[in-house]
Amino acid sequence: MTFQRIISDQQLEELMQREAARFEKRTPGSKAAFRQAGEVLLNGVPMPWMGDWGTAYPLFIDHASENRIKDVDGNTYIDFCLGDTGAMFGHSPAPTAEAVTRQIHRGITTMLPTKDAVWVGRELKSRFGLPYWQVAMTATEANRYVIRICRTLTHRPKILVFNECYHGSIDEALVHFGPDGRLALRSEYDINPGIPKEALTRVVEFNDPDALEEALAHEDVACVLAEPVMTNCGMVLPAPGYHAKLRELCTRTGTYLIIDETHTLSSGPGGYTAAHGLEPDFVTLGKCIAGGVPVAVYGFTAAISEKINASFGHKGLSDPMGIGGTLSGNALAINALRATLKHAATQTAFEKMIAGANRMADGLEASIEKYDLPWSVTRCGARAELQFVPRLPTCGSEAKAAFDWPMIYYTHLFLANRGLLITPFHNMMLVPPMATEEDIDCLVKGWDACMQELSVLSGRNRSH
Ligand SMILES: Cc1ncc(COP(=O)(O)O)c(C=O)c1O
Repeated sequence: MTFQRIISDQQLEELMQREAARFEKRTPGSKAAFRQAGEVLLNGVPMPWMGDWGTAYPLFIDHASENRIKDVDGNTYIDFCLGDTGAMFGHSPAPTAEAVTRQIHRGITTMLPTKDAVWVGRELKSRFGLPYWQVAMTATEANRYVIRICRTLTHRPKILVFNECYHGSIDEALVHFGPDGRLALRSEYDINPGIPKEALTRVVEFNDPDALEEALAHEDVACVLAEPVMTNCGMVLPAPGYHAKLRELCTRTGTYLIIDETHTLSSGPGGYTAAHGLEPDFVTLGKCIAGGVPVAVYGFTAAISEKINASFGHKGLSDPMGIGGTLSGNALAINALRATLKHAATQTAFEKMIAGANRMADGLEASIEKYDLPWSVTRCGARAELQFVPRLPTCGSEAKAAFDWPMIYYTHLFLANRGLLITPFHNMMLVPPMATEEDIDCLVKGWDACMQELSVLSGRNRSH
């Protein structure tokens, strides 16, 4: 199942040129800032992804507040990207901003704990059902530390991930299948060179229990690192019963199960884990958990905590190098975490977010149906993904085959020119607690206008 383009390449190119010209006219300040940045920053941006919005240059931002972003030219956008989840509870949530402002004058980092950490640990325990927690700076780091722990406890070298996953810049997890359905090792298919993949990783498709069983039977895999719903290759929902099978196979083969909730926290206050009764050995999550202040956390079972202390030398986790970091768990970070969990990432906020996302997904599905487009919408709590295939993908390969890059770039630019931002690289949209029905309907109308034009150009438009 691959994407079905409903207009010709040339039609799409013409539309793209029209929108690119419109973008350039609206954003001279961003263009000038980009020119200056190019003199000192590689490709004009401080971080590679910031240059990957499919525009000739990125928007330079003046201000972001709640669900609005203002660029340096004074254009305002309703934000459904939300820093690719980092700002899922809105930009600078007031309680987090106030707490951080207070703490910043009371010591930022001391290499000693604050009492806020006790509250945070208790809160995470009650949300996710795992009794012990540690704090890192980013979700990437949290995943790396947990992988290291799993290898130490099992004495096994490999990890297992799902094809087309993303869990941060973790060598072992930056793998995918080539066109022959095997681990991509040849340079023309290997988009992440420089990693000794075969030695470190087993890769299977999501929702394929037989492949999982076969891969884990070797008993050389320390852990499975999984998003409960794949969210970085488009979106892939688990088939009924898949998580139970995953848990059973991990238990049977002595493999640890890590559930990465960094994106799927959109499912509720305790993520997909609590919402669907999963029983992982570890949970990792980051991005929005402290309102966008760089913080991540990982939790684990009591049995694991005992094993850690028995396996890592007489001082437990504080003994080895490479787990933890100077700034991890600093006073400012913990304070931001506490304020965000207590006041922003609440049950009430999630109820609003999920209701909003359903309104958005319903609206998008109605437009797709109205224009009879071969597209679909996948939902995961407060997020939804529009995919350029007629039915929901069941694995990473299928989801990736729906990636029509020129169409992704065009539709995003069409929306941006109408004051609407969605996540770059794919069609992921997040609804924060403060998004009003009008905000959501604005996005739906933006997509509807885009779909209508495509439909007319394609000649499919019969009655509209
Ligand atoms: C599921 C998941 N885990 C981990 C990460 C890594 O997050 P960070 O880049 O903040 O370390 C990401 C980033 O997109 C992610 O989507």
